[in-house]
Amino acid sequence: MSQILIAPSILSADFAALGEAVRGLKPANADWVHLDVMDGQFVPNLTFGPPVVRALRPHSDLFFDAHLMVEQPERLVDDFAAAGCDAITIHAEASPHLHRTLGQIRARGKQAGVAFNPATPIDALAYCLDLVDLVLVMTVNPGFGGQAFIPAMLPKIAAIRAMIAASGRDIRLSVDGGIDPTTAPRVVAAGADVLVAGSAVFGAPTVAEGVARLRGSAAAASIA
Ligand code: DX5
Ligand code: ZN
Repeated sequence: MSQILIAPSILSADFAALGEAVRGLKPANADWVHLDVMDGQFVPNLTFGPPVVRALRPHSDLFFDAHLMVEQPERLVDDFAAAGCDAITIHAEASPHLHRTLGQIRARGKQAGVAFNPATPIDALAYCLDLVDLVLVMTVNPGFGGQAFIPAMLPKIAAIRAMIAASGRDIRLSVDGGIDPTTAPRVVAAGADVLVAGSAVFGAPTVAEGVARLRGSAAAASIA
């Protein structure tokens, strides 16, 4: 499996100082910047849109991993692509035209991701895998940071890893929600290779320490 990537979610950063938070991620040895976009419809919470992503773009050359928790994401894909996202992940539950929207993301030259809520079956993945660069398994119900990891997602992660392996394609498998040094080795053992973490990074004594602890715990699982 490929190298494990750490993707801090700025949802848990200080929203009054987002530029500083994003600037600090590369020196802290993070790999990606995870951007949680919420529309107050698909999830009860509201965060930020393309103008904020555009404003953050000059603050880091790290990979911008946008996670759109919005209804009808096809309305927003072009704006997020133009704002400087590198990958755009949409929810399987949010659009009846998942296949088309993944193609729309690819057509903008961006990596395309599909996310699944905890109770959503992954059957649809078999029919759009050729359009996908990233699969995101929600390990909490989306909407808020700081929730408890749902262990029932471990077999789901393993099933997706098996599908990716069978496809022979280079597709990243991301997990999001309740990822900390205790749960990280479990999801990595199941097949995850991108660890999204909000509270475990921004709630640590320093961001660098939060990233290092996650990386260390994941490395222990990869060796085991
Ligand atoms: C949840 C978001 C996550 C969230 C993770 O709706 O998609 O990215 O920020 O936060 P933690 O790591 O605190 O569970
Ligand atoms: Zn997220």
